[in-house]
Amino acid sequence: MPEVLDAAREEHRRLAEEIRRHDYHYHVLDNPIISDAEYDALMRRLLELEAAHPALATPDSPSQRVGGAVSASFRTVTHPVPLLSLDNAFTDDDLRDFDRRVRSRVEGGEVAYVAEHKIDGLTVRLRYENGVLVEGATRGDGITGEEITANVRTIRSLPLTLRAPAGGEVPAVLEVRGEAYLPVEDFEKLNAAREQRGEPLFANPRNAAAGSLRQLDPRVTATRPLSIFVYQLLPGEGVQPASHWESLKYLRELGLVTNPHSRRCQTIDEVIEFCRYWQERRGELPYEIDGVVVKVDSLAQQEQLGTRSRSPRWAAAVKFPAERGVSVVEDILVSVGRTGTLTPVAKLRPVRLAGSTVSRASLHNEDLIRQKDVRIGDAVVVQKAGDVIPEVVEVLPERRTGGEREFEMPHLCPVCSAPVERLEGEAAHRCTGGLTCPAQIHEGIVHFASRDGMNIEGLGPSIVAALLQVGFIKDAADLYSLREEQLAVLERMGPKSAANLVSAIRATKDQPLHRLIYALGIKHVGERGARVLAEHFGTLEALSRASEAELAAVPEVGEKTAHSVRSFFDSPRAQRLLEKLVAAGVRTTAEAARTGGELEGLTLVITGTLSGFTRAEAEEAITARGGRVASGVSRKTDFVVAGESPGSKLDKARSLGVRVLNEDEFARLLRGEQI
Ligand code: IVH
Repeated sequence: MPEVLDAAREEHRRLAEEIRRHDYHYHVLDNPIISDAEYDALMRRLLELEAAHPALATPDSPSQRVGGAVSASFRTVTHPVPLLSLDNAFTDDDLRDFDRRVRSRVEGGEVAYVAEHKIDGLTVRLRYENGVLVEGATRGDGITGEEITANVRTIRSLPLTLRAPAGGEVPAVLEVRGEAYLPVEDFEKLNAAREQRGEPLFANPRNAAAGSLRQLDPRVTATRPLSIFVYQLLPGEGVQPASHWESLKYLRELGLVTNPHSRRCQTIDEVIEFCRYWQERRGELPYEIDGVVVKVDSLAQQEQLGTRSRSPRWAAAVKFPAERGVSVVEDILVSVGRTGTLTPVAKLRPVRLAGSTVSRASLHNEDLIRQKDVRIGDAVVVQKAGDVIPEVVEVLPERRTGGEREFEMPHLCPVCSAPVERLEGEAAHRCTGGLTCPAQIHEGIVHFASRDGMNIEGLGPSIVAALLQVGFIKDAADLYSLREEQLAVLERMGPKSAANLVSAIRATKDQPLHRLIYALGIKHVGERGARVLAEHFGTLEALSRASEAELAAVPEVGEKTAHSVRSFFDSPRAQRLLEKLVAAGVRTTAEAARTGGELEGLTLVITGTLSGFTRAEAEEAITARGGRVASGVSRKTDFVVAGESPGSKLDKARSLGVRVLNEDEFARLLRGEQI
């Protein structure tokens, strides 16, 4: 038997080496030397050997590309150095200001730059030890991220083992940062396939890349043809090149893929020229870019310039303006949202914009249609910027032929035929069907399961629709009593995905109370409002009993919200829903303070605008470390974090002698450093 294993080990070693060589030729040199079929045959043989001898399936085996074991959740990892973000520049003048600031701070004043594509994907940090890829993580809040090693191993253009650089050795430890992305063509194929299967579509390649990398089942990730460009050697031991340009060269020597269009520029004018060039040609690239990143080339100069709390002074992101194109409004359809709002949506002749195909644009409401005078059949200018839903900017009246038709808001809900009303002072038309309208029920359950709500992985709009249609669920609480056998009878749902979905649903029973409150979809209660209510009332029971006056007395809760919360809990349907959620074992009490976090037992108050965090990110970062966020300053407050234009809370902190932190100190506190 040992001889058999030895022979298998030897064959496996040779095969793995050969596959790695072909990966390098294909992805790094862009010059494959065998056919896809030949490559597949090598991979098949490798998998056969590993099936017979599981010990051969080591983390650096090319077999890891097909996806490893499923995990229940992602582990949080702390980045060895914070992954900073970038300050934005929008105009040539902003770039010249950046250049002036840089040159005034460096000795000698001579500065060269490297200009690179700003890839619109998902940031990842990768760690190689002795040449083997051992860890991949998302950026998260820049300080901690999620460990997604099994998923990054499926990225074909990412080497699982490094090559020795010319005349040197593979470094003992190497940490790099890069951007994983989905090529535009693959994104469109993926969406076309999803549309056929009735699955929800990804809004853009970036969302598709992020969704693919954040899959708990790496085998799903492996089916998505993700790719990666590495663009930064993170500080650490080992080789430290003198410039960014040289570090890119070094990374390529190690077998990592860097972007081929990066350019070293001697002056800021060359950088501006680079931006102009790519702004015009961005549509020709096989991947999406949303701008250009400009970096000071010399690492010594980078060090002199240093960083602000969350972004380096030696780099800037030049953001491209939204891309515009011309299309034709083929029809105006009306969709019904969670709270019954009717939204007119333009069905457009497909037009390629910002790297993807746009065939719909929101028209928001009837007033806006009138204001812009959009008619069915009109030629229109459409604009799309990054994540935002495409919008109709203006009509081209000179292209009218006379056959255009004006749009009229329906008087009856297009889904449930209940009368449509428009309340005084509101722009929106609403379906009055309430929770008898199937569209509102559907949207409500989708919202319940959404990422900011209960975050049920894998439960998208089409599955919710199917579950409602066959009558397996009538409201969100019914999700918790779904059984695998039921799900497995749905079209396109195998036993494995049924089991995954049931466990994904079950895993959300213990979500924090604020998520549940948000997930209920109470009108005017957003993410922040849900946190405030959870914090104040502590249990869903207490919240549901609070009078309108008690609700309105809570800081940050307005009268409109108080009224809406009260009427929500007064409705018999909501009462039934809550009873069912409790019976299903969903947690309806606030979490006891998390133990073991760096901020355990500490209460913080935030005032003013922070440059590196949105308010929600800052709050999440505090609570994730066991701290508490309060809305008002008292003697019990441990720290007040003061950003730009702080409010009266700062004065109050000073008068009470509460310690005030600037953003830099706050970021250090989050990293567990001395402040
Ligand atoms: S450099 C400290 N270079 O754009 C240096 N970032 O905030 C930080 N991005 O999510 C990043 N392409 O991950 C750099 N060529 C590139 C990039 C790039 C895309 C992302 C980055 C971050 C965002 C900027």
